[in-house]
Amino acid sequence: MVLKREEPNLGVELGRLKLRNPVIAASGTFGYGEEYAGIVPLKRLGGLVTKGLSLEPRKGNPPPRLAETPSGMLNAIGLENVGVEAFVREKMGFLRRAGCAVLVNFFGSAEEEYAETARRLSDVEGIAGLEANISCPNLKSGGAIFATEPKSVYQVVSKIRQATSSFLIVKLSPNVADIAKIAVAAEEAGADAVSLINTLTGMAIDVKTRSPVLANVTGGLSGPAVKPVGLRMVWQAARAVRIPVVGIGGIATAEDALEYLIAGATAVQVGSAHFNDPRASLKIIDGIRNYLQANGLPGVQPLIGSLKVGQEK
Ligand SMILES: Cc1cc2nc3c(=O)[nH]c(=O)nc-3n(C[C@H](O)[C@H](O)[C@H](O)COP(=O)(O)O)c2cc1C
Repeated sequence: MVLKREEPNLGVELGRLKLRNPVIAASGTFGYGEEYAGIVPLKRLGGLVTKGLSLEPRKGNPPPRLAETPSGMLNAIGLENVGVEAFVREKMGFLRRAGCAVLVNFFGSAEEEYAETARRLSDVEGIAGLEANISCPNLKSGGAIFATEPKSVYQVVSKIRQATSSFLIVKLSPNVADIAKIAVAAEEAGADAVSLINTLTGMAIDVKTRSPVLANVTGGLSGPAVKPVGLRMVWQAARAVRIPVVGIGGIATAEDALEYLIAGATAVQVGSAHFNDPRASLKIIDGIRNYLQANGLPGVQPLIGSLKVGQEK
């Protein structure tokens, strides 16, 4: 008789948000979900994060907006999006039937704009949570990025918190000196979770023309190159806060995702890997299940933050 092994429990609790599994498609790499629906059964995902929204539609930066690097990519899309109103009108109908947790990413160029966008999204049926992308220049304070100072993080997150009771994830930038302090500021201002990392600022130059490859000159680096940085920052943030941490950066395989979970992430987001393989998230979910089974683990929970430092392995 062949004994069937117990199916491990892939479910995780991101605070009050229950996910079927810990794998979420990252903002800006999965459109508004619908673009992928023909190739990826969305109901198999733990969740998906939409492309970042602003109050008004945005065209983004002029091309070229993408550049390949040896182990990743640079993008300077410039947060092109359809705007909140069109999103709710044209995209939510499909997303309500997606069958996975729908998280809506948003941003603004002033605290009030973040708050107003969050307010408008709060009452929309079918949204499981909001993800605030605070890697945006604060136009009212001379263009300093919200995400880089604990004080401005606290201020903008407090404003958003006052505007919404929705589940609120604050997405952190790696372009900072001390990620733990930034994560704590987000927690103290009322974030329900933090997600990290967003892209690392980089650039590329065409030596033939001596001009920047990206029209915007600089862009955000993502993909395998950023994984060690993301992992280190998730580990530091997870030790500093009590709220759940969502790990992002260079995740392309189940092993990458497992590293983040062991470092302290409760869930992970898969980004650029979707451009190589639109089904990457599904393969990662299957790989996590196989790992749990092979290691006799009943579920994902015991893995989270299980890093052994300075101990017998
Ligand atoms: C083309 C592109 C567009 C992105 N757009 C957004 C966005 O709108 N909002 C956001 O918070 N992050 C955005 N990101 C960042 C990703 O969600 C993710 O944090 C980052 O790419 C690191 O993960 P990865 O290495 O798995 O891609 C974008 C990334 C890429 C590559």
